[in-house]
Amino acid sequence: MRAIRNAERRLVGHALACPFQKESRGYFPVAIKSIVTAAFVIACLHAETGYDAWLRYRPIEGAAMARVRAALPAAIVALGDAEPEVAARGELIQGLRGMTGRTVRAEARIPRESAIVLGTLDELSRAAPQWNLHAQISEDAYWLNTVMDQGTRYIVVTASNPRGVLYGAFALLRKIATAEFANPIDERSTPYAPIRWVNQWDNLDGSIERGYGGRSIFWENQHARADLARVADYGRLLASVGINGCAINNVNANPRLLAPETIPEIARIAAVFRPWGVRVAIAVDFSSPKVLGGLGTFDPLDAGVAAWWKRKADELYRAIPNLAGFVLKADSEGRAGPSTYGRTHADAANVVARALAPHGGLLLYRGFVYDHHMDWRNPKNDRARAAYDNFHNLDGQFDSNVVIQIKNGPIDFQVREPASPLFAGLEKTNQAVELQITQEYVGQARHTVFLVPMWKETLDFDLHAGGAATPVKALAAGKTFHRPAGGFVGVANVGLDENWFGNHLSQANLYGFGRLAWNPDLSSRRIVEEWTRLTFGDNPKVDETVESIQLGSWRTYENYTGPLGLQTLTDITGNHYGVNVEASERNGWGQWHRADEKGVGMDRSTAAGTGYIGQYPPVVARAWESLATCPDDLLLFLHHVPYTYKLHNGKTVIQYLYDSHYQGAEEVAQYAQKWKTLAGLVDERRCREVLAQLEYQAGQAVVWRDAVTEWFHRASGIADALGRVGHYPGRFEAEAMRLDGYRVRDVVPAEDASGGKAVACAAAECSASLKYDGAAGWYTVRVQYFDQRDGVSHYRLRVAGQVIDEWEAALSLPTAKLDSTSSTRRVIRGVALRPGDEIRIEGRPDGGEPAALDYIEIAPENE
Ligand code: GCU
Repeated sequence: MRAIRNAERRLVGHALACPFQKESRGYFPVAIKSIVTAAFVIACLHAETGYDAWLRYRPIEGAAMARVRAALPAAIVALGDAEPEVAARGELIQGLRGMTGRTVRAEARIPRESAIVLGTLDELSRAAPQWNLHAQISEDAYWLNTVMDQGTRYIVVTASNPRGVLYGAFALLRKIATAEFANPIDERSTPYAPIRWVNQWDNLDGSIERGYGGRSIFWENQHARADLARVADYGRLLASVGINGCAINNVNANPRLLAPETIPEIARIAAVFRPWGVRVAIAVDFSSPKVLGGLGTFDPLDAGVAAWWKRKADELYRAIPNLAGFVLKADSEGRAGPSTYGRTHADAANVVARALAPHGGLLLYRGFVYDHHMDWRNPKNDRARAAYDNFHNLDGQFDSNVVIQIKNGPIDFQVREPASPLFAGLEKTNQAVELQITQEYVGQARHTVFLVPMWKETLDFDLHAGGAATPVKALAAGKTFHRPAGGFVGVANVGLDENWFGNHLSQANLYGFGRLAWNPDLSSRRIVEEWTRLTFGDNPKVDETVESIQLGSWRTYENYTGPLGLQTLTDITGNHYGVNVEASERNGWGQWHRADEKGVGMDRSTAAGTGYIGQYPPVVARAWESLATCPDDLLLFLHHVPYTYKLHNGKTVIQYLYDSHYQGAEEVAQYAQKWKTLAGLVDERRCREVLAQLEYQAGQAVVWRDAVTEWFHRASGIADALGRVGHYPGRFEAEAMRLDGYRVRDVVPAEDASGGKAVACAAAECSASLKYDGAAGWYTVRVQYFDQRDGVSHYRLRVAGQVIDEWEAALSLPTAKLDSTSSTRRVIRGVALRPGDEIRIEGRPDGGEPAALDYIEIAPENE
């Protein structure tokens, strides 16, 4: 019942969010809401917010509606009363109502009429033994099946456990929504791996580390939120793609999470997730026995410490019997770990895992362990080696409920990295692959970057660990070496923003992660087609446009940030967002690319470099060691080469860097153009919001293009064969304009602003102007300005005295500086210019933000 009530609450919730709700309140008293509300809501959902993500259940269009209506029974029954089964029934009722406009009748037992029957195999064999439904179905797998009984047709959704029934219900709804439903049906689907978790890096104060979709849905002011409705809705989204676990706090864990007063709060969150089959996990701090428990030590080999972990686990499981386990980040980035006592990671993992074992809990121990104080002067030092060096020798020493959670690449979620060699380096230890759904190094949801193609490259990569056909997915899932546990972990970091991520198109990454964790053999295209249809409907033009943007977006982002294995080239000691080519160098963080005036790339060869390549099995190592067979995409990650080195495609490295950046920026400009053609085909709000996002991204891609190409141009001294770098037709630097009140400022790093300089207003209001001396005509004027986080400056563009445009710098970008992060552009189209016209930008500072300007560009109207 609760799930049905939840479904109703969601529908009503939407009505409340609907702009027409005020009128509806007047007409319909709350007491008679149900039918009227449902009908009203269906009309109302046109005002889409993105909240429902891919679970929108919009009416089926055209002939498919008649087909589905004809095939669907009028009744539904859930044989069991386990929460996921009840949720499955509620979801089907809601989904079918949305898609077909019909409300199926909930029955208490199998009726004599055609019905949808939900139940585990056990429940079915009791309720309908004559159906003889027997099958070997593994945990969480589902079976959709049509049964004929005395001329009556039943659609059966079954599984070995209630969670599997829920997954089957979602699969059935997905089939209907994507027009793939056929009756009769006989389809079984088994998840690829048992661990299909997300991690949330939420802090107890409500902030989220590397979260770009608003504040925590779980925590606020050191406590679980009073209203956990968003958690229920998140559980529903997770369940719909088969995710069965969620770690609800930051891996940089607050010891307070294990405090007696927090445990009931975790239990509350766990209860809200439970109907959706999502088990809660928590991240723990390794020093907890000391800092929280008051012991004199947290030495993993100390008997008192072991007893403390046991008592704590017992206490937790009394409150949360279905707790999935712990996540532990130790000896990494300043976190406490076993090294304090000269102990190993196996010692650390096992002492915690033994406390969880009697309860069936898992310990996900992070493989992300490295020294961030490495001496950058030593060419043999290499952070990429760290995970393998730290864990390979311990293989076989971990208990069977320990899982080493390994990031996809050896560094840290960069735009491209090779698969971590550690996947092949553990044969007697469970492992899981950690992917990052939240876009920390890939545009932070302000850029559209569909990550499924990137993940697939890693998951499908054959590491040749003990023969061929040992792709990362099989190693991580425990298939290759027959491990009892294994799977997929995605760092999701959804937040309270209405659309969860802050970018509608970024939702595809959560969807894609879940689908891959269930079935990594699905193609990127298949996943994006499903997602697009579910999220935007089945208009072919919309689908084609969205799919082409999404499928190309990773390569595009790589093109205008850090291609050829350079890593993202972002500000790695700062916000991980804007450009800072040198931020990675001359410090201990070890994300070095070693670019200097002669060449670029990290020599990780075994012959002369750090020996990292030697951590791979011989087939892979041989291919990568040799420049002749090293793939271009990884070249600079694995080798140091001169700028004039020729790639397999015949281009020099330096020319490729130039070309890819121009190409990437051009591709994003096209995204925005393509999206514009969807006006009227996508609901108004999402259409507008995605366009704004893509236009912003197009501007940022130019900032990246210019910064990176300028930097390499300066470093290498080699000109761009196409003459683009350093030459910007129609561009007028603000520092060269006539300034009134504005002062010229150096920008650091210099490549973050055109010409290395900006102008900042040092008065209440300032202006920068120039006299136009080109041909008369219609133009587009682009104003490059700085939108910092600490104020909302105001800008005005005047041409020959007339105000053409006014705007505010009101984005919340993660910087208070004048740099590539705050650099933003305003595009003003359809501007008439005549020789002699004064073009004048007026800026009014606000707070700490000095209404700064970089340049203006005047381009022919159709450029
Ligand atoms: C990255 C990220 C950190 C995070 C860490 C981790 O370095 O920037 O915020 O804590 O990864 O995965 O533990």
